[in-house]
Amino acid sequence: MHLQEEMRIVSQHKLAPAIFEMKLAGKLVKEMKQAGQFLHLRVPCPDLLLRRPISLAEIDLKLSTCTIIYRVEGCGTEYFSKMKQGDTLDILAPLGNGFDISVVKPGKSALIIGGGIGVPPLYELSKKLITKSVKVVHLFGFATKEVIFYEEKFRVLGEVRISTDDGSYGVHGHVGDLLEKLEAENFTPDAVYACGASGMLKMVDKKFAMHPYAFISLESRMACGVGACYACVCHKNRDPTGTKSCKVCDQGPVFKTGEVVI
Ligand SMILES: Cc1cc2nc3c(=O)[nH]c(=O)nc-3n(C[C@H](O)[C@H](O)[C@H](O)COP(=O)(O)OP(=O)(O)OC[C@H]3O[C@@H](n4cnc5c(N)ncnc54)[C@H](O)[C@@H]3O)c2cc1C
Ligand code: FES
Repeated sequence: MHLQEEMRIVSQHKLAPAIFEMKLAGKLVKEMKQAGQFLHLRVPCPDLLLRRPISLAEIDLKLSTCTIIYRVEGCGTEYFSKMKQGDTLDILAPLGNGFDISVVKPGKSALIIGGGIGVPPLYELSKKLITKSVKVVHLFGFATKEVIFYEEKFRVLGEVRISTDDGSYGVHGHVGDLLEKLEAENFTPDAVYACGASGMLKMVDKKFAMHPYAFISLESRMACGVGACYACVCHKNRDPTGTKSCKVCDQGPVFKTGEVVI
């Protein structure tokens, strides 16, 4: 079920250059149950008609707040970054299918792979897995040291390994290099979850194509966000006709590896 509400901004902080953390409060939070789901935010500007999809980074049911982390890309996110505590935002949520954590049992292990601004939904995911007594290992790739966020918060939950494209922090390289090292240590995760740029997702999709519990969260340009307009379709894999498609907004954004063409 997705609902609409004017949610109140409880706080807004800059985490890194052009990256902001915003906490929102409202009754809608009690509907937000799954990590990997997203909010569809109306930009408070009449010229910008389309809502902007942003993932849930954290859900606090006790305080009725949720957190989003976003990077300023264009006009919409620029507007959000100028908003202050006490302002309200028109939100449609919770949208999409999130990460399935029922597949991994207590005492088992999960590998969480993220890149850049794909990292936010993995925080709520990791928290949920920890609550289930699942051991989590995080592999994160960032462009530079400057744009790393939430490292300490993830370290509280489990091991964190970081790579940077320019070598300014952690391993010089990308997340695939971290993964190769982990594999060489014979770590075999019981579940795999990934979110990030399409190049990284392609790598994870290929590497874990045969894994029974490996999931990737896709990004796609969206309009309605609720399955009505077909703006966000992607093609299904293993479809010789090339005609079968999925809507990222309501059949995703999380898919099983091998399920869709990235
Ligand atoms: C399911 C999902 C979850 C997302 N979660 C996050 C998140 O947690 N943090 C974050 O920083 N970004 C996230 N994004 C990307 C975010 O939606 C875009 O960066 C944002 O919509 C850009 O809006 P803009 O007005 O600033 O940019 P503009 O480029 O001006 O946007 C123009 C139009 O393109 C759309 N658009 C532009 N880039 C994207 C994109 N990458 N994906 C989808 N639509 C796009 C906008 O919604 C808008 O309709 C997510 C995208 C999806 C699909
Ligand atoms: S955005 Fe309209 S169907 Fe997905």
